[in-house]
Amino acid sequence: MSDSLLIIEDEALLGNELARFFRKRDWDVTLTRNLEDAEATLSAETIDPLVVLSDMNLPDGNALDFLEKIKDKTHDSEWIFVTGYGSVADSVRAVRLGAYDFIEKPCDPERLNLLVEGAARSARAQRRLSQQSQQQTNRYSIDALVGDSSITNTLRQMIWQMAQVPFSSLIISGETGTGKGLIARILHHTGSRAHAPLIELNCAALPKELLESELFGYEAGAFTGAKKRHRGLFEQAHTGTLFLDEIGEMDLDLQTKLLKAVEDLRIRRLGGESEISIDVQIIAASNLDLSARVEQGLFRSDLYHRLNIMSLRVPSLRERKLDLEQLVPAFIAENNRKSNKNVKQISESAWSKMRSYNWPGNIRELSNVIERCVLLASDEHFPEHWLQLSQASSAPSEAAKMAEDGIFLPLDGSLSLQEIEKYVLQEVLNRTDENVTAAARMLGTTRETLRYRVQKYNLRCKS
Ligand SMILES: Nc1ncnc2c1ncn2[C@@H]1O[C@H](COP(=O)(O)OP(=O)(O)OP(=O)(O)O)[C@@H](O)[C@H]1O
Ligand SMILES: [Mg+2]
Repeated sequence: MSDSLLIIEDEALLGNELARFFRKRDWDVTLTRNLEDAEATLSAETIDPLVVLSDMNLPDGNALDFLEKIKDKTHDSEWIFVTGYGSVADSVRAVRLGAYDFIEKPCDPERLNLLVEGAARSARAQRRLSQQSQQQTNRYSIDALVGDSSITNTLRQMIWQMAQVPFSSLIISGETGTGKGLIARILHHTGSRAHAPLIELNCAALPKELLESELFGYEAGAFTGAKKRHRGLFEQAHTGTLFLDEIGEMDLDLQTKLLKAVEDLRIRRLGGESEISIDVQIIAASNLDLSARVEQGLFRSDLYHRLNIMSLRVPSLRERKLDLEQLVPAFIAENNRKSNKNVKQISESAWSKMRSYNWPGNIRELSNVIERCVLLASDEHFPEHWLQLSQASSAPSEAAKMAEDGIFLPLDGSLSLQEIEKYVLQEVLNRTDENVTAAARMLGTTRETLRYRVQKYNLRCKS
């Protein structure tokens, strides 16, 4: 399909000549003689021009005024202005309005062609970018957070509320693989900064010096190897979000510089003279207990309090095993798609193994396990033997250790009373291999009472 070019030119001879010239070069040309017709064509959305080539002065007005008026509707088109008597003021205004270029009559057709080709490339790049950002926005909607336990529903509600307010900083804490990175992306892409960049930096991945130059940027010659000026991540994230992952690993010196930047909303590139204003929202994540790091003198308490204006604790998967009901099918579907499989039958014993496992690597571990199983499946049955969940081989967490003879229950309001009851029943049934007599004995109750509750919560047991 040809790309669309809109020509706005009132001189009939020139207009026709231009239209013929560009049609020969495979453009789908629309020619209008005045701004009113151009506006009607653009707002009817019958065409979506990649490039607009417009005369400056038209019988019904000035094309720059026109661009200013309809700018919001045509942000993915590039504009080139052609004029008989261009003035410097006009060209400055054209650039300010985001026009691609400005050319005086009479113009050489080949030069004009080069300009139009350049403008087309630029518009295509812009369209690709906005398409990508749209895809990210779709990918990181609030529904990307799967799980229907009341803990996850509360978490989703909190994320949704936070995304509505213009917070300046937030700390997300939680064990590895619980979804901190995913939540940071959801917060950015569903918030008011979604159209600006989200810049991610893993503070544990770089040595201190490199981390500093990455964050703040540098001027040419600031240090050996600094050949060219480099804009740091703070600048790149301007008007958007800076996601500082594993912030607990950041060196104390650098923490001081970070605090200054966050408080002053200004940074200075390494080797730079002047300060640069920045407008960034900071999301920091850590799987370390930051308040304990503060007590140990490993994390600055003032930075901690400055960033901790809002905080979000992401619970481990073992605190919300009910989410498995949605996570497992979601990961199976995703991997079916990726590897062209059709796994859909999960046996009861596979479910039971997954429910009784403690998932020290949380949702990342679950997602990897499911990926392996789907990849190795030979038919539509979920291959249970590929689960390979050995509780012993994974380092037991504090909670798991406590839970060997009893049950670990988070008492932070994240489980409702009913969920606690269901969770206890499920855990006991898992441990007794769903044997009602043994489970009733463990809970000091009768088989009848237990059966009633098993039915109430729609659990499974052997009669
Ligand atoms: N509730 C969820 N629903 C669907 N996918 C999830 C959910 N939580 C996490 N994931 C997926 O699990 C994987 C691990 O999540 P993520 O990388 O966000 O964890 P993390 O907390 O940042 O881990 P780490 O501390 O190791 O960096 C990702 O692929 C993420 O998309
Ligand atoms: Mg992460």
